[in-house]
Amino acid sequence: MVAYGIHRTSRFLILTTMGGNMRLTTITLAAVVALSSASFAETTAPGDIKFGENGEVEISLTGAAGDAASGRKIFMNRKKGNCLACHVNSDMAEQTFHGEVGPELDGVADRWEAAELRGILVNSKNMFEGTIMPAFYKASGYNRILKKFDGKTILSAQEVEDLLAYVMTLKE
Ligand code: HEC
Repeated sequence: MVAYGIHRTSRFLILTTMGGNMRLTTITLAAVVALSSASFAETTAPGDIKFGENGEVEISLTGAAGDAASGRKIFMNRKKGNCLACHVNSDMAEQTFHGEVGPELDGVADRWEAAELRGILVNSKNMFEGTIMPAFYKASGYNRILKKFDGKTILSAQEVEDLLAYVMTLKE
């Protein structure tokens, strides 16, 4: 860019240098923001989650974006999300059994915003009253729960964010 500017007027040169400086500043700022959010990022406990009017959750439970590849594994893992027990998902056509209790999840990211999908994963009961879909990030309010599960969530905050990152890839 600068080399190209040399063949033009000096005014252009100054402009490109300024542009260069500005870019440098932006990069430094981005680095500072990344650093500070890394050191202050805290996992939100199930009891501290702020739900919107319709049960949506705007802020990442981990303070960071999840990993879609890991989320895909959690989705099909029978001991984790076990989402296939109730949902058809064409992206996993190789998996033998897809339940049909819930809606097909093909294109689900076109139908819902990320915050809404996070809300559905955290506690679907807020979004769909009386649904049989489990609340994956809820640790209290259960009756007669086994001692070993008391105060525990089905999925961790990280697992919810990974799942969300994956579900967000399900577009038509
Ligand atoms: C026990 C069955 C069951 C399981 C397990 C389950 N769901 Fe659901 N899910 C449902 C039902 C039923 C609905 C429809 C809501 C209602 O009850 O009206 C639903 C709705 C949804 C929706 C909204 C879909 C739409 O098109 O409106 C999403 C997204 C979703 N589930 C994702 C998941 C994911 C991801 C998992 C795994 C972590 C999962 N579900 C596990 C039963 C289940």
